[in-house]
Amino acid sequence: MASPQRGLRILPAEAALAPVLAPLHARCFDRPWDETAIARLLALPGAFGLLACGGADFQTPAGFVLGRVAGGEGEILTLCVDPAWRRAGVARALVRGAMKHAGRANAATLFLEVALSNLAAQALYGHLGFETVGRRPDYYRESDGRRDTALILRADIVPAPPDRYDARN
Ligand SMILES: CC(C)(COP(=O)(O)OP(=O)(O)OC[C@H]1O[C@@H](n2cnc3c(N)ncnc32)[C@H](O)[C@@H]1OP(=O)(O)O)[C@@H](O)C(=O)NCCC(=O)NCCS
Repeated sequence: MASPQRGLRILPAEAALAPVLAPLHARCFDRPWDETAIARLLALPGAFGLLACGGADFQTPAGFVLGRVAGGEGEILTLCVDPAWRRAGVARALVRGAMKHAGRANAATLFLEVALSNLAAQALYGHLGFETVGRRPDYYRESDGRRDTALILRADIVPAPPDRYDARN
């Protein structure tokens, strides 16, 4: 487990960083997104990414979030934290960063989907003010054939004054 005292830096993640993001995604998901998929996503209008880096000189990728803002609504498309960096506040900092980014892009709400079985992520989002507003049965299909319901979560975005993304916020 990483120590929050080690510090984090949160940087914008653009399509050129897909070779860094894809291996991280693969360490976190049963069905990871490859470099091409991530680069394509980040090239879409309104898409954004934030990468959390820690370690010496903040050179170690610890986790990232990808999202999109359109029509006054934001969406978190994926969020992952390297297993070696979990329970150190990395995801909390990334989701807060995504909320700030979406707010500055004039989104009033942020949506996301989370698997019913993913209790860790549900705890994280619950603490950050997300509420369940819908469900999609059999939405996820794992590589072993298991299926899972997707919960649709929503949070209001409180407009934030301009400042830098900061893991301590
Ligand atoms: C879910 C995930 C993103 C959490 O990342 P993280 O950096 O470890 O989360 P944080 O340290 O910011 O945790 C913030 C809070 O979320 C909750 N939480 C996080 N992980 C938890 C776990 N395994 N069990 C219970 N609660 C958890 C806790 O309330 C935690 O606060 P605390 O540590 O003060 O108790 C990470 O486990 C992950 O990448 N999982 C695989 C991919 C995934 O599920 N992505 C989300 C898809 S919607």
